[in-house]
Amino acid sequence: MTAPISDQERVADRLLRSTAAKGYDPDIDIDWSAPLEPGLAYGLRNRCSLYGTALYDQLTPEQRIELGKHEVVSVASTGIWLEAVLMRLLTRVAYNGNPMTRHVQYALAELGEETRHTIMFARMIERLGTPCYLPPRLIRFLGRILTTIATGPSLWGAILIGEEIIDRLQREIVDDESIQPLIRMISRIHIVEEARHVGFARAELTRCMVRTPRWALAYHRLALARTAFIVTRVLINPQVYKAVGLDPRQARRAALANPYYRETLRFGGEKLVPFLSQAGLIGRPGRYLWRQSFLLG
Ligand SMILES: [Fe+2]
Ligand SMILES: [Fe+2]
Repeated sequence: MTAPISDQERVADRLLRSTAAKGYDPDIDIDWSAPLEPGLAYGLRNRCSLYGTALYDQLTPEQRIELGKHEVVSVASTGIWLEAVLMRLLTRVAYNGNPMTRHVQYALAELGEETRHTIMFARMIERLGTPCYLPPRLIRFLGRILTTIATGPSLWGAILIGEEIIDRLQREIVDDESIQPLIRMISRIHIVEEARHVGFARAELTRCMVRTPRWALAYHRLALARTAFIVTRVLINPQVYKAVGLDPRQARRAALANPYYRETLRFGGEKLVPFLSQAGLIGRPGRYLWRQSFLLG
């Protein structure tokens, strides 16, 4: 008699089939030699961190497009960093688990997709001819610590914070014809593959919450609140403002006080926040940091 298949294995098996049926190779599926369309934007106007501020009003239309380009690159650069964090976490899942399970096999399949995403984002940045805006050294160091100590809900929750905010912003531009086709295609590839990653992390988080004792909840809440705060603060690297001649410190202050930008972050957290909240992972301690992340609105 064969052993019954667990829910965990069933989810992983479904995701593996979906990976085999619908995956992309950015090397083949993106026409990297296609020219960029003059006059088309790289991101939505109202999603620019300075949209609606006095600083934005003083920019020319060309400068607004240029700033939008650098902000899209900043989000992609943060994506590269987050994918490195995710890959370290997934490697741990694979290392600690049984390679004969669909669960570990799916973690490995996801790792494969993340490596391709990182190359895709790096090639995009190269194509757009801007700097790569990785987070500062201290934040990268903190990311390394997170990948060593995160377990259970704070591991899967950190993965969701890393994936869902960027995913939400990409979904908004994928069908918008005012955006550069290259950016839309990259977003399309990422959305399709991230949907599986989010499904996997959500199922794992729900599963491990059952085994999480109440006394450990405070630790996971605080770890996730920190992660959420850091991720939202590094999405737009202040150095992007230099591209249009603005002072990074002054523009950063204006962005963080900008109600439109806070709304963008709230929009980014619109799916993530109710899920983590329902799981019991948003609350004291850490509520203050969640509020400061502007994801709660
Ligand atoms: Fe990714
Ligand atoms: Fe992912």
